[in-house]
Amino acid sequence: MRRPLMAGNWKMNKTISESVSFVRMLKAAVSGVKDIGIIICPTFISTNAVYGEVKDSNISVGAQNLFWEEKGAFTGEVSAAMLRDAGCSYVLIGHSERRQYFGETNEIINKKIKAALSNGIVPVLCVGESLKEREENSTFEIIENQLKESLSGFSQEDASKLVVAYEPVWAIGTGKTAAPQQAQEVHAFIRRIYSEMYNNIIADKVRIIYGGSVKPDNVSELMKQSDIDGGLVGGASLELESFVKLITYSRS
Ligand code: 13P
Repeated sequence: MRRPLMAGNWKMNKTISESVSFVRMLKAAVSGVKDIGIIICPTFISTNAVYGEVKDSNISVGAQNLFWEEKGAFTGEVSAAMLRDAGCSYVLIGHSERRQYFGETNEIINKKIKAALSNGIVPVLCVGESLKEREENSTFEIIENQLKESLSGFSQEDASKLVVAYEPVWAIGTGKTAAPQQAQEVHAFIRRIYSEMYNNIIADKVRIIYGGSVKPDNVSELMKQSDIDGGLVGGASLELESFVKLITYSRS
């Protein structure tokens, strides 16, 4: 049985004080929730303050990125050990916005996953095809390639620690969610690749969450799909009411 996850990716939104006041309210609103993991990924500078607010609660903190080196002359970068120290237990790696605007390749993503794992942080590996790739019918090829290259050289044990996020680029921030069956098809494919690369037990255990215009009115249908284990949410995680609805979807 895979425990579902609902992760809010705040991207470049909210100041430190806005972040802290949001999680204070979130903590109160979801204090009784036990059946779903809740993760907030604020900006780097807010992670520690957010952690201070949620450390004894059912909310975990994630970062949106990291740099793979341990320390040194890498102006502007933040290492995995620093994130761990700031209270992050998850980190998003290879988000499509990082691939698109900051030139992240599968090779870079591979190094970042390695750094996260060696510091005890759960990597959330993001994969997904662009609209052009979907229209050219190369979705499965793209996803397979992203998984194989990003996970190259990892042991079964490493692979079992990851969360995978499927985020079709054309569904991010556009209001166009993938149809639940369309998302399920790709999630099942990701699980199949995982079982080919590792084994059935690991593939069965790995949580594969969906991102791309997840909203209170589509979350139940998405979560009903057998291979969708949660959501990675941008816009709808910025408002308390909608994020709480996503977390409590099964009871709404
Ligand atoms: P939206 O929920 O705003 O479409 O963003 C999805 C996303 O990119 C989460 O990482």
